Amino acid sequence: MPAATTATVRSARAVNGTVRIPGDKSISHRYAMLAALARGTSRFHNCSAARDCASTLGCMGQLGARWQQVGDKAIVVTGIGSSLNAPSAPLDCGNSGSTMRMLSGILAGQSFESELFGDDSLSRRPMARIIKPLSEMGAKISSGDAGRPPLKIQGGHLKAIHYKPEVASAQVKSCVLFAGLFGDGETVVEEPIRTRDHGELALQAFGVEVERHGNVARIRGGQQLSAIEAHVPGDLSSAAFFLCAAAIFPGSQISLPGILMNPTRARLLDILIQMGLKISIGQIEQQHGELVGSIEARGAEWKGGVIAGADTAALIDEIPVLAAVAPYSENGIEVRDAKELRVKESDRITAVATNLRKMGAEVEERPDGLRIPGRQKLHEAEVDSFGDHRIAMGFAIAALRADGETLIHGADAAGVSYPTFFDDLRSITG
Ligand code: S3P
Repeated sequence: MPAATTATVRSARAVNGTVRIPGDKSISHRYAMLAALARGTSRFHNCSAARDCASTLGCMGQLGARWQQVGDKAIVVTGIGSSLNAPSAPLDCGNSGSTMRMLSGILAGQSFESELFGDDSLSRRPMARIIKPLSEMGAKISSGDAGRPPLKIQGGHLKAIHYKPEVASAQVKSCVLFAGLFGDGETVVEEPIRTRDHGELALQAFGVEVERHGNVARIRGGQQLSAIEAHVPGDLSSAAFFLCAAAIFPGSQISLPGILMNPTRARLLDILIQMGLKISIGQIEQQHGELVGSIEARGAEWKGGVIAGADTAALIDEIPVLAAVAPYSENGIEVRDAKELRVKESDRITAVATNLRKMGAEVEERPDGLRIPGRQKLHEAEVDSFGDHRIAMGFAIAALRADGETLIHGADAAGVSYPTFFDDLRSITG
């Protein structure tokens, strides 16, 4: 873990330029896990080099896969098939909830005991949501207090289940589908609200049959995976920081080539358009079922609006930055139905409200959301990342239109998903 660092962000007059956004984190995790279960060597270009994905690769290495970085951004993973090696030490998931939750699905199907642990933030996050279905499938799992990490998993042959998760969570869906690979029949996941479908698409890319209708996905146990070569599209949730930067400066222009356009993630673009950002998309293509395109964004009037219901689930990772720049909008931003934000890498509702208040904004904090009035002026302040990458980066964007210099303590948290964020930010503020 690098030492905590403080970033200084000065106010800007505009943002302009092109940013090459690193590979999508959600896809990189899933490709790395499934490549370990495939026989043969997979090659991923533009794989995320973020700390979270390094946690996944580290765990897959302990479980017998071989991986190495080739050149600047390619990663090569040689898998060992669906029976992994028992690890000789506990598996360190770092700050990554995705690693712990999705890998648990795979470990539930292995005939050995394994232990997963994480950093202080991950140790506070709820795991009951994966312990419940995996226990129903027959895995023996013990945890810390109230279903928190560390987890001990005794896996084995699993019973196929029809599971209806209470929370809309793509991590839970992927976890159960990955466990379904080791089930004795057809495992079904029926979601309350459709979440990102990278797990289903990645399984199909590796040659697994997954049937999908609406909010229901089905997988048959016992299927073998084949190695692939793939290009990981730029992460739309990372692109969101630069889109929000363009949104708050009328006349700004930002180009983002090669960005993930998966419809289960791209609701963000509709909402940004509704809120006033001008967006055009070109060069759309499909790679292993994932849509990719280039975004041109132009700042105009930043109006704001309401994020609620299924939109909240679809934008769950982008709400921190949208809320951080809400004071600059005409009408303010209201976020509803967002109780899940309280159990992310930090309590993101409290983190956003605390930092905005330090910058002089009026904010109404609610149990499951926020209401931030528009037409507010923010001033220089010392804010905190709360050890959370999306809070560090969201407030770097808010700082661009605040008066003076904003100090962001714990800014190194950005490396969890976007190690080159502050360099890329400097390149567009000139
Ligand atoms: C992710 C799903 C979301 C998201 C996280 C990545 C994924 O979490 O917040 O950053 O890759 O499936 P939940 O599934 O817990 O909502």
